[in-house]
Amino acid sequence: MRTPIIAGNWKMHKNVGEALETARQLEESVQGSPVEVVICAPFTSLSALNALGLSKVRLGAQNMYFADQGAFTGEISAAMLLDVGCEYVILGHSERRAIFKEDDELINKKVIQALKMGLKPILCVGETLEERRAGQTEDVVISQTTKGLAGVGADELPKVVIAYEPVWAIGTGETCDAADANQVIGKIRETIAELYTPELAQKVRIQYGGSVKPSNITEIMEQSEIDGALVGGASLNAEDFVAIVKY
Ligand code: 13P
Repeated sequence: MRTPIIAGNWKMHKNVGEALETARQLEESVQGSPVEVVICAPFTSLSALNALGLSKVRLGAQNMYFADQGAFTGEISAAMLLDVGCEYVILGHSERRAIFKEDDELINKKVIQALKMGLKPILCVGETLEERRAGQTEDVVISQTTKGLAGVGADELPKVVIAYEPVWAIGTGETCDAADANQVIGKIRETIAELYTPELAQKVRIQYGGSVKPSNITEIMEQSEIDGALVGGASLNAEDFVAIVKY
C-alpha cells in the first residue's frame, strides 16, 4: 500500500508571518491523519517554518538548482534546502516550464541532484490544452516522465513522487475528470513499469494536481491509481487545506 501524500504548493504567496500562521493551524488540525502532509513554501519562509519544529507537517521547496554551489545568482541549492528542514522539492512545475523555459534536460539534472543530496523530488508532468485537444496527452506525459527520470537508479525511484498536473486545469477552477486523471496516471505508472519493473512502479506515488478543492478531493482520492494531490490555491487557506487532507 502506498501512503497517500497531499502537498500544498503555496507558489509566490505568503510572507513569513502568514506562512507561520497557516502552518500552525495546519499542524494542529491534521495530527493523526494517515496522509503524509507537505507544505511547499516560498524560500523566504522555510527557515522560520523549520524553527516551528513541526512534527506532522513536512516541508518542501518549489524549485532548486542542480549545482552543489557556486556563481549562480538568484539560485538555491539542495544543501541549502536540507539546511532549512526540507524533505521535498517540487521540480518541473508547469509554471517553471512555461514562464522560466525549463526543459526536460534541466529538470532531469535537478531530479538527479535532489536525490543525490537526499531530497525527495515531486516531479511535475502534464499536457497543455493545445496538446490535449491534439490527442497528445499520453505522449506528453510519457515523454516528460521518461526524460525526467533518466539516470534515476531503481534504489532511488521510490523516493520520487510524480505529480500529474494538466496545465489547463491549474488555477482555472476546471478540474480534470477524476476518471480521466486516473487513466493518465495509470499510463504514467505503466511507463515507469516499462522503464524499471512493475513491482517498482507500484511503489511510486503519483498525485493529481489542478484545481483540487474540498468539494472534489473525495472523488479524486477514490481513484485506484491516484495516491494524493498537489494543491495550489486551496492550500493557502488552512481550513480548506485541512478539509482536503481529511477527505
Ligand atoms: P491550483 O490548485 O491552484 O489549480 O494549482 C495547482 C498547482 O499548480 C499545484 O502545483
